[in-house]
Amino acid sequence: MKKILVTGGLGFIGSHAVVELQNKGYQVVIIDDLSNSRIEVLDSITSITGIKPDFHQIDLRVKIDVQNFFNNNSIDGIIHFAAFKAVGESVEKPLEYYENNIGSLVYLLQEMRDRKIDNFIFSSSCTVYGQADELPITEKAPIKPAESPYGNTKQIGEEIIKESCNAYNLNAIALRYFNPIGAHDSIKIGELPLGVPQNLIPYVTQTAIGMREELSVFGDDYPTPDGTAIRDYIHVVDLAKAHVLAMKRLLEKKNNKNFETFNVGTGTGSSVMEVINAFEKVSGKPLNYKIVERRQGDITAAYADTTFANEVLEWKSEKTLEEALLSSWKWQQKQ
Ligand code: WQD
Repeated sequence: MKKILVTGGLGFIGSHAVVELQNKGYQVVIIDDLSNSRIEVLDSITSITGIKPDFHQIDLRVKIDVQNFFNNNSIDGIIHFAAFKAVGESVEKPLEYYENNIGSLVYLLQEMRDRKIDNFIFSSSCTVYGQADELPITEKAPIKPAESPYGNTKQIGEEIIKESCNAYNLNAIALRYFNPIGAHDSIKIGELPLGVPQNLIPYVTQTAIGMREELSVFGDDYPTPDGTAIRDYIHVVDLAKAHVLAMKRLLEKKNNKNFETFNVGTGTGSSVMEVINAFEKVSGKPLNYKIVERRQGDITAAYADTTFANEVLEWKSEKTLEEALLSSWKWQQKQ
């Protein structure tokens, strides 16, 4: 039974990936520093799969703790989610983002180099494309200058991994997520935003449940059919399954290059207004919203060309926007 380390495994995407890895028979070890997650998620994962993952509360910025972990755990592959991920916060605290997101990555890669662990899946983001010149976005689209330190840590992270794979004979896959939303069918795990949600869907569900007065729609003057910005909203369970298939590809040594990138989205773009209308339909709740100014740094539209992941990973998103929004709503009602 292969043992997979999942860093950030108690977080939103990480916890769903742990469930899918266990469903496929992998042994899972979680490292999480609980800076943006809750220890209760460990029991939730266990109640879904019946298997309690091994858990270590470790700050990956502390090199000696990373080394001690690998001294005591033989690992076959790593899926690395652990990172700070708030775009706005990264503009205010760039050095914390570089120290955490880049520092922890370097320490993990050093352990992989020294212990011949050569299977690595990196949590990247479509944010590396900025506003792409062509839609849908393929993996060949040019990387644009990052709009935020957060986005820069994803771009730099991919570069560090690519160069490390070449130098130390490692194998890695970067998954460039579009917009992850939704919650597990069991409604036992889902998104747990701390404080005021930055992302659209948690703000929508918190408005619908009465925690927020009204949703601010950031701009309706974009060059899109209804004037609101377009994104590719992918169900977190579909996204989690892509990680299992990517790890399987590396473990079975089917990768064609030592560093591969895949766009992971639905391939369909939805505008903010389309999301609002779909949410009202599935929840039966009219949503209180107002149109305000655009948010600084937002792009007009992004949605994925998923051909590469469909053909090479043999992965395709299965859940619809409505299914994802309904699962988010059910999850919110349970909080
Ligand atoms: C989606 C759309 C907003 C909130 C970010 C990160 C990206 C990735 C996903 C980590 C946009 C609009 C939002 C609100 C709104 N994160 N919106 N009112 O900005 O596409 O991507 O999260 O990897 O890296 O950049 O996601 O959910 O913040 O916004 O109108 O209260 O909803 O303008 O058009 P985004 P988002």
